[in-house]
Amino acid sequence: MMVNTGDDPGADRVTVVEVGPRDGLQNEKRTIAAATKLELIHRLADCGLPVVEATSFVHPKWVPQLADAEEIMAGLERRSGVAYPVLVPNEKGYDRARAAGVREVAVFTAASEAFNQKNINCSIAESLARIAPVMERARQDGIPVRGYVSCVLGCPYQGKVPLADVIRVSEALLAAGCVEISLGDTIGVGTAGQAREMVRGVSRSVPAEQLAVHFHDTYGQALANILACLENDIRVVDASVAGLGGCPYARGATGNVASEDVVYLLEGLGMDTGVNLDALAETGQWISNELSRPPSRAGQAVFNRTRQKDE
Ligand code: HMG
Ligand code: MG
Repeated sequence: MMVNTGDDPGADRVTVVEVGPRDGLQNEKRTIAAATKLELIHRLADCGLPVVEATSFVHPKWVPQLADAEEIMAGLERRSGVAYPVLVPNEKGYDRARAAGVREVAVFTAASEAFNQKNINCSIAESLARIAPVMERARQDGIPVRGYVSCVLGCPYQGKVPLADVIRVSEALLAAGCVEISLGDTIGVGTAGQAREMVRGVSRSVPAEQLAVHFHDTYGQALANILACLENDIRVVDASVAGLGGCPYARGATGNVASEDVVYLLEGLGMDTGVNLDALAETGQWISNELSRPPSRAGQAVFNRTRQKDE
């Protein structure tokens, strides 16, 4: 299906999954106060984002920035209709998450053996074995699980990643019971043709309705890649406010594609996100100031436009 060109507004709904508070912050060197993280999560939900990934219950030594996961969940003021999933690497993470009141979780692995060893200290097969008891517990508890596949278009350690490996791991997560599979270009190396072939390949065995795409923007290709995926029926897009982010175990990975840029693109295509772009740009401006980093391109332009209107 082709995306429309903007002449038929509201024809199509796209879910933007905001990963800033988790993927965006996990790599920040300076410790960010829990209160700032909570304000970020609350502001993002107030912008109309339907999913705000809140934090990770990984080992605090591996990702010190998110060592306050329990405190974040304790301070979370839920907005109705908003999901606040968290990352869990294993059953221990799942126990911690559930004790903290989490209602949605995400598990993660990669299509690259080398990346998995660096990121979670085990092979792909071992990671799937670790995920199995989490899936079983989640099934019993009625908790939906998203599955992430990293390095779908390249690996910082291994280089090329065969499409067959991406398909195999995606199928395994689907068979394990994940309700959604997020395909991650962890280091942002892919280009639109590769992204198109990748989603076409995976969607032969995983329904497109159950796929999401997760682009980092290292080479500035993320929006083009997202468009290629939209044209191939993908309707869930991960993004991070102000383009925050980078993976601690993916050398050279810059931030995720910026949520503001994605919403601007989708609005231009006449696609409905439910997100208030002006409010999102303001949130992007605020967190960029907090972290002393530049806002995203569209975020800055929308912020300037809104300010001019107000003057
Ligand atoms: P390990 O050292 O192999 O774990 O780490 P272990 O099972 O051997 O246990 C060692 C110790 O850790 C034990 O404690 C466990 O209890 C404890 P001890 O008995 O020695 O006192 N432990 C835990 N403590 C707290 N919470 C836990 C936990 N699990 C074990 N959940 C592990 C394995 C997976 C835990 C570690 O490698 C880890 O936490 N890695 C996290 C890596 C990470 O968060 N990476 C970034 C997220 S992925 C990403 O960003 C990609 C994504 O955005 C998509 C994309 O862009 O591609 C999703
Ligand atoms: Mg990521």
